[in-house]
Amino acid sequence: MQTPPLIDPFRRAITYLRVSVTDRCDFRCVYCMSENMTFLPKKELLTLEELDRLCSVFIRLGVRKLRITGGEPLVRRGLMGFFGAMSRHLHAGALDELTLTTNGSQLHRFAQPLFDAGVRRVNVSLDTLDAEKFARITRWGRLKQVLAGIDAAQTAGLRVKINTVALRGVNEDELFALTEWCAGRDMDLTFIEVMPMGDIGNEARLDQYWSLGDLRARLEGRYTVTDLAERSGGPARYVRLEESGQKVGLITPLSHTFCEGCNRVRVTCTGEIYTCLGQEGKADLRPALRDNPETDAPLVAAIRAAIGLKPRGHDFDYSRRGVAGRVSRHMSHTGG
Ligand code: GTP
Ligand code: 5AD
Ligand code: SF4
Repeated sequence: MQTPPLIDPFRRAITYLRVSVTDRCDFRCVYCMSENMTFLPKKELLTLEELDRLCSVFIRLGVRKLRITGGEPLVRRGLMGFFGAMSRHLHAGALDELTLTTNGSQLHRFAQPLFDAGVRRVNVSLDTLDAEKFARITRWGRLKQVLAGIDAAQTAGLRVKINTVALRGVNEDELFALTEWCAGRDMDLTFIEVMPMGDIGNEARLDQYWSLGDLRARLEGRYTVTDLAERSGGPARYVRLEESGQKVGLITPLSHTFCEGCNRVRVTCTGEIYTCLGQEGKADLRPALRDNPETDAPLVAAIRAAIGLKPRGHDFDYSRRGVAGRVSRHMSHTGG
């Protein structure tokens, strides 16, 4: 029997699932976490077998793109086994893409096993090429280790996309250094506007916000910037810098929302589904999953019920000199 696809109240088909496999991270980026985070006890986490079952149900319901996130996904023990298991959906043609977003700290160990599991593209978060600044932003991270991870990923044959959060007064001066570095290494680059998630203080957030409209204007001061029609299935809009051929993605939740084309939902490491990154609404899928080892029907019903409540979009807004629409959870909770 044909299973009906997942369609939300605004007639958007849900084909992209982002799954956070851990809330832990080996970094403490200033815009993402506070220095002293309390993490979940291990027993709260879905097991890798439960994650497999959950993802497989979503795939049966029409999800074509699966992105693993965290926290930092690669700190979750046994994760390569999970990737290996998920590759069956690629082989079966049920999934178009299996990928992850990572801080890169463990890529030197896992790039090859990821490639072997069918991953072809990874997104690596990197906000600066300056070692001292990197240590300041990530608090616990070391740039050298991430660069080694990126090398390993490219050696293994993975395509790398760099994700850079645009931070006023922090990496503004590196705009061209970053675009040229990525061009030289044949990597895509995406800039993200900083979003008000988790309490790090409203003042700090406003100080950090650097609109990508301004960033784009600065690119136009140096390069011929052409808009591209292509999409990668995520929220980025792409431009090409004609002089270098470099492709640059712009993710602008604040200055231009892209919610009308939203195709994704998120599941946390405890089995909660968030149907919008920018809203508090959630539902717990874990009881339906845990209490029914023999049948997926209650889980399917819980997923459909949650997607039936997916909101139109987020309410982030910095325009009134304050921060509106803030959500209380930290970004690491849902993995971006
Ligand atoms: P591609 O497959 O390369 O297009 O990746 P992606 O942009 O879907 O995933 P990635 O993990 O690189 O996402 C980059 C960042 O974009 C996330 O970490 C978030 O900060 C932001 N982002 C992704 N999806 C959404 C969304 O639905 N709403 C908002 N506001 N931001 C999002
Ligand atoms: N606003 C925008 N992006 C954020 N990220 C983490 N916190 C925020 C925030 N408050 C980014 C990371 C990474 C991705 C998972 O989300 O830098 O690229
Ligand atoms: Fe970790 Fe990513 Fe959050 Fe930085 S942004 S603390 S790397 S989860």
